[in-house]
Amino acid sequence: MKRFEGRPAIVTAAASGIGRAIALRLHEEGARVLAVDINAAALEALPRSDTLCTLVADVTAEGAPQAIVAECLRAFGGIRVLVNNAGLGNCPPFHETTDADYEKYANINQKATFMITRAAFPALIRSGGVVLNIASTLGVVGYRRQAVYSMAKAGVIGLTRNLAADYADQGIRVNAIAPGIIATPQTAGRLGTARFQATIVGTTPMGRPGLPEEIAGAAAFLCSDDAGFVTGQVLAVDGGQTTSAYLSEPLVQCWVDAHPDH
Ligand code: NAI
Repeated sequence: MKRFEGRPAIVTAAASGIGRAIALRLHEEGARVLAVDINAAALEALPRSDTLCTLVADVTAEGAPQAIVAECLRAFGGIRVLVNNAGLGNCPPFHETTDADYEKYANINQKATFMITRAAFPALIRSGGVVLNIASTLGVVGYRRQAVYSMAKAGVIGLTRNLAADYADQGIRVNAIAPGIIATPQTAGRLGTARFQATIVGTTPMGRPGLPEEIAGAAAFLCSDDAGFVTGQVLAVDGGQTTSAYLSEPLVQCWVDAHPDH
């Protein structure tokens, strides 16, 4: 028996990177998936199947949460799994952030998660469903030059914990994943630079970026009955980055060179 056999699932920003990997993984495990994305051409490139529907939508648009929920109910008759994956990083430094920047990053990373979850809630209560929010390690630890993004992802984590406590008695589980550096189109530019590799990847014990499929594996666990007693959790899938003060060998060497007596 597949873990999600017949279960209706919504995955936002499902045409690329982490969302695509989660949508395909849930589908492979039997879910009936509604893949939502703003990019129609990229959605078209998803494998065709009766149990994988697509919806072109901007998750931040007025009315989009209701439209997404209505489409899942129309196509599959319910909602059992909701994965709020839509998000955008690389925001400007705090002191250069305009009002328009603030709206842009706060809306997609935080407001859309709130709005879509709220719209889906009646159906989730009926099904005893699960919500999984894709946050970020930058919502957990401080970082440089990601003020609105960090704030919004920290808000997503707060929402996750609040809903978990509030609705456990109605059979709803709500968890989050905090990905570290994952190789997707969103990080491709930075990952291509030697400096980024040396600093970010060089401070990750596993010494490499993660793969979207590695987030999908954790997502499938948290959304499945295997995680039946897990709620309110934020699972860092980050190669050990946020649980250590790890430095790769070249960085250790810099430290040693600076302290020749030790
Ligand atoms: P990606 O850039 O590979 O894919 C983003 C997808 O979102 C694209 O298909 C795009 O068309 C869609 N999209 C953009 N704006 C949209 C909108 N307004 N409405 C609907 N769809 C929209 O992104 P990636 O890297 O897979 O990121 C997915 C999530 O993971 C985001 O929430 C991101 O913040 C989070 N994350 C990613 C990390 C990474 O290293 N890649 C690290 C930590 C968190």
